[in-house]
Amino acid sequence: LCATNGPPDVVRVEDVPAPELTAEGVRVRVASASVNFPDVLLVAGTYQLDVPPPFIPGSEFAGVVTEVGSGVEHVAVGDRVSGACLYGAFAEEVVVPALAVTSLAPGIDDRTAAAFGVAHRTAFHVLRSVARVRPGERLVVLGGGSGVGLAAVQIGQVLGAEVTAIASTDDKRRAALDNGAAHTIDRRAGNVREALRDIHPDGFDVVVDPVGGDLSEAALRSLRWAGRFVTVGYASGEIPRIPLNLVLLKGVHVLGFQFSDFAVHEPDALRANEQELRALFESGRVVPHIGAVYSLDDVADALREVAEGRAVGKVVVDVAPPLTAPPTPRTGR
Ligand SMILES: NC(=O)c1ccc[n+]([C@@H]2O[C@H](COP(=O)([O-])OP(=O)(O)OC[C@H]3O[C@@H](n4cnc5c(N)ncnc54)[C@H](OP(=O)(O)O)[C@@H]3O)[C@@H](O)[C@H]2O)c1
Repeated sequence: LCATNGPPDVVRVEDVPAPELTAEGVRVRVASASVNFPDVLLVAGTYQLDVPPPFIPGSEFAGVVTEVGSGVEHVAVGDRVSGACLYGAFAEEVVVPALAVTSLAPGIDDRTAAAFGVAHRTAFHVLRSVARVRPGERLVVLGGGSGVGLAAVQIGQVLGAEVTAIASTDDKRRAALDNGAAHTIDRRAGNVREALRDIHPDGFDVVVDPVGGDLSEAALRSLRWAGRFVTVGYASGEIPRIPLNLVLLKGVHVLGFQFSDFAVHEPDALRANEQELRALFESGRVVPHIGAVYSLDDVADALREVAEGRAVGKVVVDVAPPLTAPPTPRTGR
């Protein structure tokens, strides 16, 4: 429960009344949930949507349906599902609209299902519909060892791009290589612009940027003529200000992605992309990399790992004993 806004430590595990079922809703017994950066922002009270405390954080989960509302037809008690919500997932039970859950294919374990959501869907829509990345193109991913970034590395490689991942630690860069990156750059080792030039002196085609700060301009400068730069988030805490002459000189396209607005304005693209992505997930070609697993009692530590930018891939919170055995580990290739 987040009873007051603040750093992750304000989140405490408490007994609260079960959420009320709605006519269009389903009740899910949560097995695993996973952490996204916006959860940290919601707890801090700095997210773009205002959610006044008290609330239960957590925005994606997997589990089993235990009750359905009177108006629900396509979901049944006993279904194994994953789902997303604005908050409420770090709990034994969550109630969400039936439209917010998706049935799980047999063989997909709860942790993997909980970790496959916001980050991969964001990365897929960005690469498919915003950057429109094509096979053979050169893609740079900032924050390429964690949530949205590592998902963009995996998906970029599957879509045929040659991926360069920028990340701060050995673990993150190793994860990027294991998940399809052709090159990695240590953002702490010096001049990122020069490191990018060393890899491709004539430039890159696409930059995906969920980090912001100083890195953004260095990456934008590495684009070649008519390259595409997609701004996705500002995990660094700093919204960059780009000199427009850089955009003018290279004919660069600066693009943005915001999930909720994309869903409203591009419903057909959203549906088509999500079908394509789910097929990649179910066939094992795109699988979330889980870097850490915490118990519900330690959920504040899980949030802190993400808040401090330490997460490698996705951070999972186990709520109940697994409903299915974890599968043999698969790579993202
Ligand atoms: N537009 C959308 O619809 C949408 C959807 C989902 C997420 N987002 C946004 O995308 C961003 C990334 O989300 P995520 O879930 O991928 O987060 P994440 O897993 O925590 O990854 C963020 C990465 O940013 C880098 N970073 C650099 N400076 C940092 C700092 N001061 N604090 C924390 N991280 C820092 C770190 O990588 P290195 O250490 O390797 O640099 C970190 O691993 C967030 O701003 C989130 O709100 C946007």
